[in-house]
Amino acid sequence: MKTPEDLRSRRWFGPADLRSFGHRSRAKQMGWDSEDWEGKPVIGILNTWSDLNTCHTHFKIVAEQVRKGVLQAGGLPVEMPVMSVGEMFTKPTSMLYRNFLAMETEETLRCNPIDGAVLLGGCDKTTPALLMGALSMNIPVVYVPAGPMLRGNWRGEVLGSGSDVWKYWDEKRAGNITDDDWAEIEEGIARSPGTCMTMGTASTMTSIAESMGFTLPGASSIPASDSNHQRMAAQSGRQAVENVWQDRKPTQMATMKAFENAIITDMAIGGSTNAIVHLVAMAGRAGLDLPLETFDEISQRVPFILDVRPSGRFLMEDFYYAGGLRALLNQLGDLLHLDCPTVNGKTLGENIEGAKAHNTAVIRLIDNPVSSASGTAILRGNLAPNGAVIKQAAADPRFWQHTGLAVVFKDYSDLAARIDDPDLDVTENSVLVLQNVGPKGAPGMPEWGMLPIPKKLLEQGVRDMVRVSDARMSGTSYGTCVLHVSPESAIGGPLALLQDGDEITLNIPARQFSVNLTDAELEARRAAWSPPAPHYTRGYGKLYLDHVTQAEHGCDFDFLHGEPASVAEPEIH
Ligand code: FES
Repeated sequence: MKTPEDLRSRRWFGPADLRSFGHRSRAKQMGWDSEDWEGKPVIGILNTWSDLNTCHTHFKIVAEQVRKGVLQAGGLPVEMPVMSVGEMFTKPTSMLYRNFLAMETEETLRCNPIDGAVLLGGCDKTTPALLMGALSMNIPVVYVPAGPMLRGNWRGEVLGSGSDVWKYWDEKRAGNITDDDWAEIEEGIARSPGTCMTMGTASTMTSIAESMGFTLPGASSIPASDSNHQRMAAQSGRQAVENVWQDRKPTQMATMKAFENAIITDMAIGGSTNAIVHLVAMAGRAGLDLPLETFDEISQRVPFILDVRPSGRFLMEDFYYAGGLRALLNQLGDLLHLDCPTVNGKTLGENIEGAKAHNTAVIRLIDNPVSSASGTAILRGNLAPNGAVIKQAAADPRFWQHTGLAVVFKDYSDLAARIDDPDLDVTENSVLVLQNVGPKGAPGMPEWGMLPIPKKLLEQGVRDMVRVSDARMSGTSYGTCVLHVSPESAIGGPLALLQDGDEITLNIPARQFSVNLTDAELEARRAAWSPPAPHYTRGYGKLYLDHVTQAEHGCDFDFLHGEPASVAEPEIH
């Protein structure tokens, strides 16, 4: 237990010296009185709200609820803005700024008189970023996920974020729906505050945050517009104060067993492949090494039991009514490490005990999974010596073992210019290859990995093909997409050496991904290869290019890896 004398904020407010006089007098300038802070934990409310974050529009209200909870528990709430990193408007990709937000989170907590924090996030990159920063700073935090939005609606049809955009866009390109239909879909697919309501990256990462113990039990499944979400926010504020007194720190929760629980959860919910890079990066902040093979091993023994799009039928709102994540985790039972500590001081097992699935069509019984396919497979071979990723459950089974001839696009502009060319030499058995879209190549490893099906094949009824890139894929996407190929093409990985007509083999059961070229042929092509010009020569972009790691290392900055708590606390001058 901490005492008021132990509080970190006391270093700012407590001493009878000139500098602390400054802190106190200027706090009074803001209308505070000494009763506001004396003996009270200062709780930072780190808010990723902005007018350009579509999924966090309710965070002004949520922050007020957290503030209420902090006050009720005898703390001092201070709301702090951090970079919003909304998925829809951040270009070239929000992934470029995940590390920026992680650094901002860490340094905001470090440089201010803050004893603990409540982190408000949810839209894709904000969850890993906030948790990465919190892990590196390692003061008590509670994570408040934004919650999913309500189901979309079009003429009574249920619409899911992302997944149905891709689906109906292909139908529009194939001439099966009209411009007017498409305009109506635009008005019905996102109709409330909250994150994408499919099991995309946002819901995957918030479910993972809960399974690792960073949220209150059940928090990740509550729809943003449900009143229970506001109550959860206030409870989180109260919990944050308690956690300061208990000195309950993120690294106490971020153990290897908790990361395994995160991967088990990811596989059981049919989560996004993006979880891999985020979890590896989070583990790096906790000083842990999380090899790709851990994902593959766990994916082969954990059933996929949540029937939610993109790999299933329902949406997050249905998941909540069916019992939410607590019920799903309770189904998994001993597959999980139930003794892991969580943010409310109880174990994971205690938090999920007795949670029932009310609808076993949504949360399937463990012996009746949605798919027998493993959620995520890690591939290796002469095209991906350091690994590649495929979401097997989202791929057409006839492509699980496939050999086809490459159709190569040298970058995204090349793809956009030629993919619908009627003269493109492509069949449904071709392998579409997109180069230079990895961490340094794009840059930022955007979600371009679900390459569009060429229009002329769409018109023939083709809806899936083998596609290959060093990019990521949206968690709401689907198809036979080999992703995260490493080393990436922009640094001379084998993907950079592919040419039209090369014979590529994908064999998911054998975890193999290769090109039918000899080492000598690959070396000859490498000798003739030259790297693309860097996208940035100054500023944050240059910092990113100089320090971002490859996908298998989580795309964090190399200088941010490592155990927390070794950074000196700021001097109070
Ligand atoms: Fe924010 Fe999908 S756009 S979660």
